[in-house]
Amino acid sequence: MAETPTTPRTYRVKSFGCQMNVYDGERMGELLAEQGLSPAADGADADVVVLNTCHIREKAVDRVYSDIGRLRRDDGTTPMIAVAGCVAQAEGEEIMARAPSVKMVVGPQAYHRLPDMLTRADAGERVTDTDMPANTKFDALPARRRSGPTAFLTVQEGCDKFCTYCVVPYTRGAEISRPHADLLVEARRLVEAGAKEITLLGQNVNAWAGENAKGQATGLDGLIRDLAAMPDLLRIRYTTSHPNDMTDGLIAAHGDVEKLMPFLHLPVQSGSDPILRAMNRSHTVESYLRVLDRVRAVRPDIALSGDFIVGFPGESEADFAATLSLIDTVGYAQAFSFKYSSRPGTPAATMADHIAPEVMDERLQRLQAAVNRDQYAFNQASVGRVCDVLVERRGKLPGQWLGKSPWLQSVHIIKDSGEDFAVGDIATVEMVQAGPNSLTGRIVA
Ligand code: 5AD
Ligand code: SF4
Repeated sequence: MAETPTTPRTYRVKSFGCQMNVYDGERMGELLAEQGLSPAADGADADVVVLNTCHIREKAVDRVYSDIGRLRRDDGTTPMIAVAGCVAQAEGEEIMARAPSVKMVVGPQAYHRLPDMLTRADAGERVTDTDMPANTKFDALPARRRSGPTAFLTVQEGCDKFCTYCVVPYTRGAEISRPHADLLVEARRLVEAGAKEITLLGQNVNAWAGENAKGQATGLDGLIRDLAAMPDLLRIRYTTSHPNDMTDGLIAAHGDVEKLMPFLHLPVQSGSDPILRAMNRSHTVESYLRVLDRVRAVRPDIALSGDFIVGFPGESEADFAATLSLIDTVGYAQAFSFKYSSRPGTPAATMADHIAPEVMDERLQRLQAAVNRDQYAFNQASVGRVCDVLVERRGKLPGQWLGKSPWLQSVHIIKDSGEDFAVGDIATVEMVQAGPNSLTGRIVA
């Protein structure tokens, strides 16, 4: 008897938080596609929904439960829900107890087992897998077949730094580096699939260590140099770095590897040494500034980015003023800033002198005003510059395209009649106008 064709089940993966979650979310999508599921169209109901969660701040966790609630359909049914990511790792049991509609809980190191979990969930089981087998998931993931012009590649995971506010060492586990050979294979696949730019990802990406094809020990700089040898890969970036792991080799690479883009995201968190000590950051304001000086010496046009936390326990007005003064000194091209969020199980959660929410709000506003001012100034200083822009997608207006400058600025490209280019091309653009968050550029011959 001929089988009746059935419409394939659909899936949606919703990722929150950091870029590594975006990478993991893409890989989970690839796994589900291998199982015969197809991605749900924008706005359409999906049969299987993966919420790929972030545990870094309290707000991010609250979102998970409201998102689960929102998945309930008008007729009272729900899709097959999986909770993945760092909340799954940290609070898997609680989610299973609190949210009966969740059928699968899968941690960030176990998601390669998602297809098997789905089979069991289809049979009516509720399945939890928060094992942390180092590196095995990557071996089990399907080869990469699709990529846009920019792609993420996780090269390192986990963190051994134990900053006192941070859950990452607990949710993502100890630092591990993926093998050099595997990374070259995955990068080549991404490039064959259309990637022109690869961003190497890791919680402490510059702690990556491995052995190259000649059996020599190598750090992130060696990996970057080997990737730069791929002719069709045009741009390389990496994020996120720790100031203490900015090796001489990596700094040198910023000076002489042309494909390594002039952008460095180097979180500092605070501009006050006593607070940095309480955070267990193991660097000082001075040692951080010295790293930036060395990078600037080899790459004067480097654009700098950072992360800041305001309202860490015990942060005085003077400590905060020191952070503002560091921002003035550095002149960031962009920065991310957060109110301190007390995370259960971290050492800072039980420290004295938690800061009142109103004080945090006010400090965050002042810090963001300073950062916005510098970001706008950085964009304005780019006007008149001619640079390469990687075309990423069409803009909203006819004839408008969007791309990124080497300094990671968003650029709206005005296309006069005549020029022809496509997504993935490098356009030579003169920056003609700057806004606080983006620039406008005109193609030059
Ligand atoms: N509260 C606020 N911000 C945090 N971050 C990490 N943990 C916390 C926390 N408990 C911020 C840091 C880090 C970024 C990824 O998130 O700035 O660099
Ligand atoms: Fe968290 Fe610090 Fe590790 Fe970054 S370096 S992931 S802030 S513990």
